[in-house]
Amino acid sequence: MDSVSTPRFTLSPNPSPVSPERRAEVLANPGFGKIFTDHMALIRYTEGQGWHDPVIRAYAPITLDPAAAVLHYAQEIFEGMKAYRTAQGGISLFRPDANARRFRKSAERMAMAQLPEDLFVEAVCQLVKMDRDWVPARPDESLYIRPFMIASEAFLGVKPASEYLFMVIASPVGAYFGEQAVSVWVSEYCRAAPGGTGEAKCGGNYAASLMAQKEAKGHGCAQVLFLDAVERRWIEEMGGMNVFFVLDDGSLVTPPLTGTILRGITRDSILRIARDGGLTVREEPYAIDQMYADAASGRLREVFACGTAAVISPIGRFRGKQGEVVIGDGISIGPVTEKLRTNLIAIQRGNAPDPYGWVHKVI
Ligand code: PLP
Ligand code: COI
Repeated sequence: MDSVSTPRFTLSPNPSPVSPERRAEVLANPGFGKIFTDHMALIRYTEGQGWHDPVIRAYAPITLDPAAAVLHYAQEIFEGMKAYRTAQGGISLFRPDANARRFRKSAERMAMAQLPEDLFVEAVCQLVKMDRDWVPARPDESLYIRPFMIASEAFLGVKPASEYLFMVIASPVGAYFGEQAVSVWVSEYCRAAPGGTGEAKCGGNYAASLMAQKEAKGHGCAQVLFLDAVERRWIEEMGGMNVFFVLDDGSLVTPPLTGTILRGITRDSILRIARDGGLTVREEPYAIDQMYADAASGRLREVFACGTAAVISPIGRFRGKQGEVVIGDGISIGPVTEKLRTNLIAIQRGNAPDPYGWVHKVI
């Protein structure tokens, strides 16, 4: 999976890129996902012809036929990944092959054309190379990369489309949450049901979560926690992150991958780092009533959310119809969470050895 020797892409540099002064201004305070780099990657798919015309060109609005299937039946998938400026002065991606694989699986679930995994990684690498000056250097910052694919065929019949548009855009970002532990709303809405699309990273899952997210905001919470759709009891995941619980014996618990939650790459990396670091980790169902009881008894010591955007972020309290529980002091990161976070970030940013072959050097 080493980089791409013969670029199949047409490289068409932006004739009027953002000025270095304006870019420096943006990089001084990037926020999250508001400002985009000078370029984007684009590959088209047409049934009978396959993937064609890969190009890196100026970031710009695209034209879509109003009958494009994505606008009606939501045939859309995406990924989220980051490029880091490393201690050695280069730029690296973290496990891009895992994003490529998950993207292909999401496409399969949504009956979309499957982009070859090497082409996915090549598109990301070509864009990052072109927009290398946009990769921030400060510790909490990175270039957030958003590959996505839409059904572009103009046809109102309900069927898998015969034309797709794959694109990659990128945005310099800072921390997703602030310094303090976040509050989480336990929702009565469901995100995914058995046999549904919970394991796919499709836009529809996020559209369906927004009402719950809005409700969470109304209750003073930054994120929402979803329970299973059958018993409304088992903790699944958050709107855009997986979740881990740290118990008083130092062990970790995280919900198992049963098809209704996203197979988080951060989740998978934490499992590996934690187990290799000697921690006991159980992928097993954890009930919401058990969590409330464990928080009240002190058995539950730390809780954290994990994902590409959130990295590892402590959760300080849960609110919901069962009332409120505070985890730890409700504000600070706990010691187990902090150690895992430090170890993960050190690998991602080239400050520690990478025994797993996770770091993919772009430059
Ligand atoms: N769960 C959901 C619903 C997500 O949107 C994300 C973010 O991508 C995750 C979990 C974490 O996945 P990853 O660690 O691969 O970013
Ligand atoms: C990510 O972490 O990449 C996601 O897709 C989650 C989203 C809430 C930004």
